[in-house]
Amino acid sequence: MTRRIVMLPGDGLGPEVMAEAMKVIDWFNGHFSANLEMAPDDIGGCSIDRHGVPLSETTLQRCRSADAVLLAAVGGPKWDKVDYAVRPEAGLLKLRKELDLFANLRPAKVFDALVDASSLKPHIVRGLDIMIVRELTSGVYFGEPRGIEKLANGERRGVNTQVYTTREIHRVARVAFELARKRKNRVTSCEKANVMESGKLWREEVSALHQAEYKDVELSHMYADNCAMQLLRNPSQFDVIVTDNLFGDILSDEAAMLTGSLGMLPSASLGGIKADGRRAALYEPIHGSAPDIAGKGIANPLAMILSVAMMFRYSFDMMKEAELLEKAVENVLGKGLRTADIMSDGCQKLSTLDMGHAIILELSALKQSKMAVRA
Ligand code: IPM
Ligand code: MG
Repeated sequence: MTRRIVMLPGDGLGPEVMAEAMKVIDWFNGHFSANLEMAPDDIGGCSIDRHGVPLSETTLQRCRSADAVLLAAVGGPKWDKVDYAVRPEAGLLKLRKELDLFANLRPAKVFDALVDASSLKPHIVRGLDIMIVRELTSGVYFGEPRGIEKLANGERRGVNTQVYTTREIHRVARVAFELARKRKNRVTSCEKANVMESGKLWREEVSALHQAEYKDVELSHMYADNCAMQLLRNPSQFDVIVTDNLFGDILSDEAAMLTGSLGMLPSASLGGIKADGRRAALYEPIHGSAPDIAGKGIANPLAMILSVAMMFRYSFDMMKEAELLEKAVENVLGKGLRTADIMSDGCQKLSTLDMGHAIILELSALKQSKMAVRA
């Protein structure tokens, strides 16, 4: 069975890290007969330049019919002045919305070899493994009314609306509970129920679903500001955190930084399971396009490569392959090989290209040693 992946390198360092992901996919095609077909396409600033819009209807259609979408990063100073509706970021938001990718999984995992890269003390972050489930297609990012209006007195007024429905809360909370069952079985749900009606509803609906279907999972509620604080104080108390679009955006950046580098973290954005058993899915590193280091060949491709591992796991049921790839990343870090963003004393600094190459070599070595064990 052939699976089609739409590849969207986007802007800034996107094309550089995507090139390494493509090598990894090629390796799995060659060594595991994975039958993954890669179809490159445009999104973001490069799409504005080529097609006049950050996401064309043709590209959107191709993403809809693909088995998975792999995206690197969008945006840059070149397009900073254009209107919100046609900015590079609007292409990404449209893709999330149109494919109904409501559940955004953002793991924050500390690799043993990188425990010193965190700005927190090693004993606080060692072994850390948190999964943030961020609602991605509703809330204040999409709520109406929105806009900037002129008032009669000459002032201006900016408006955005936070809005959630029962269905939107239940479907994302369900993803969190299901994930927790395969992990440490704990869910922390975050909102601001003390000041926002939408937060009160969020808390009530998560509790109702828990009571009805997930009593075996340990559920606690936390105000989002407290969660931000607890993530720094004692992050290991968390297993799965489920929260809305805006709080999730902020808390996931914070959680990411606990691990030492944004350059290490992948993400998955999933839609519901469709009648034919398939689900729309988008995989992307959580870092941005980093225009300041783009084109220098120094970007860390590991978040992009780990996004490929998430795609294997969540879209293609390729569990063995996902584990092999994650193991390769762990081993390469264990050997002291580093890109600039995670460099530390006594380690060897690699370019983007060389890091991709190191992963391929490690994959081959791991495969060899597995075969040797079997023989
Ligand atoms: C993210 C980013 C996006 C967001 C931007 C680029 C629109 O910060 O994926 O976290 O705010 O969702
Ligand atoms: Mg963000």
